[in-house]
Amino acid sequence: KCIYVLNGPNLNLLGSRQPEIYGAETLADVHRRLLGRALELGLEIEFFQSNSEGEIIDKIHEARSRARGIIINPAAYSHTSVAILDALNTFEQPVIEVHISNIHQRESFRHHSFVSARAEGVIAGLGTLGYLLALEYFAKGS
Ligand code: DQA
Repeated sequence: KCIYVLNGPNLNLLGSRQPEIYGAETLADVHRRLLGRALELGLEIEFFQSNSEGEIIDKIHEARSRARGIIINPAAYSHTSVAILDALNTFEQPVIEVHISNIHQRESFRHHSFVSARAEGVIAGLGTLGYLLALEYFAKGS
């Protein structure tokens, strides 16, 4: 069983999207780094990005039988989507929520995430390193 790494809307533009907030690294760079570390840790990952809420939900449903953990950056859906929270609540393994930026330092509408109620842990503000730290959590046998 593998770890699903799910990315929400606009994260396909990572690297060119507001680099002063999100950095210069692309999502492909993040994927490559995660694959390298996963190999070292003996973990398998499935990396996915979608701009559509329904596709993210479908992927979480798929994870129910295929994944032993989910790392998710729901992006703007963090702040709006009860549907993604509900989907994650059908998944019986650990969930780690990652945000590249520190959402608590930004506009107040970013301070609340529906997903956080479900997540074992939340990493925000450490840039793309957050994804790698989340992977380390699963390496510890969680
Ligand atoms: C984000 C923070 C969200 O508020 C924003 O909508 C994003 C990215 C982050 O990774 O910092 O798209 O999840």
